Amino acid sequence: MALDVTWRSPSNIALIKYWGKHGIQLPRNPSLSLTLSECYTQMRLTVEPVREGGKLEVLYDGVPRPAFGSKILSLFKLVSDRYNWLTTSNIVIDSFNTFPHGAGIASSASAMSALALCIEDIDLQLRGSTDSIELNRVSETARLGSGSACRSIFPSMALWGADENINGSSDLYAIPWESQIDPFYKDYCDSILIIHDGEKSVSSTAGHELMNSLPFADIRYDVARKNLHTLIEVLKVKDRVEEFNRLCEYEAMQLHALMMSGESPYILMAPNTISAIQKIWQYRIESGNPVCFTLDAGPNVHVLYPQSHASVIREWLENELTPFCVEGRMIHDRVGAGPLKIN
Ligand code: PMV
Repeated sequence: MALDVTWRSPSNIALIKYWGKHGIQLPRNPSLSLTLSECYTQMRLTVEPVREGGKLEVLYDGVPRPAFGSKILSLFKLVSDRYNWLTTSNIVIDSFNTFPHGAGIASSASAMSALALCIEDIDLQLRGSTDSIELNRVSETARLGSGSACRSIFPSMALWGADENINGSSDLYAIPWESQIDPFYKDYCDSILIIHDGEKSVSSTAGHELMNSLPFADIRYDVARKNLHTLIEVLKVKDRVEEFNRLCEYEAMQLHALMMSGESPYILMAPNTISAIQKIWQYRIESGNPVCFTLDAGPNVHVLYPQSHASVIREWLENELTPFCVEGRMIHDRVGAGPLKIN
């Protein structure tokens, strides 16, 4: 008899960046992210235990996509001790994203977290358990699929990476970071400017790898940790938004500076990334409005601002920044409530 579940899981954007890893997706420094709302993967997992063997079929919106299979099989291998039915079942994975492929929005984060939720849910059913889903386990499985995916399963914000000053923090899984923040940040907005919509020229995997030969890598890990400690304090109150802005931009720029200062340097910003950043800085000075940006490992700009300023800032974005975006595209997202079980 086949079992099936459907979960929706969002992407996330890191404010304090995870850049540099060791072992099996273990971070060199702790990171903290915003969980998005509108940018998510919806995934249906169908599992039919069989006596011998088992095969995997991967679909995207109902259409076969065998190319996505290898990453999924690597994850299955890593977690087969915990979920041994993965290798003895016929499995069908069918998913779609609400955001365009290649938009620079972390589809691996939403897809791997959705997959981890589906796997844990099916596992409970196969064991006949009525327990609720254990999010630590889900986060750990998601991490093995794609590091930053482990942060996608919590509402508002998530923190991943062990830190002696942070209770419960772990390199193995993320922990929720919602009760520690002022409500002001719980509906923060993130408008994503699609500056370029092609594939990245250098993968995150290669980027993490370059950190291993960076002479000042340890200094970066210390800076990230220090920025995290400061941000944690800043997030507790709403009136420190200027410091919030400064830290977000410091982390974004440092991430890209790391890419530009390795032995084989590379640039993921595009000319329009820089033009958009300059516009944001100029607008912030002229209007006094609380707006800042962060960047992922790509050219697209995440413009962050509080809900209280959403209409005025969105109007400005539509008027002034659409010329820097591919076909004028931007996605107005915001902090979200985390994953949702659909079926
Ligand atoms: O999860 P990965 O291996 O794709 O790495 C993600 C790295 C950044 O997105 C640049 C930062 C982060 O913490 O998400």
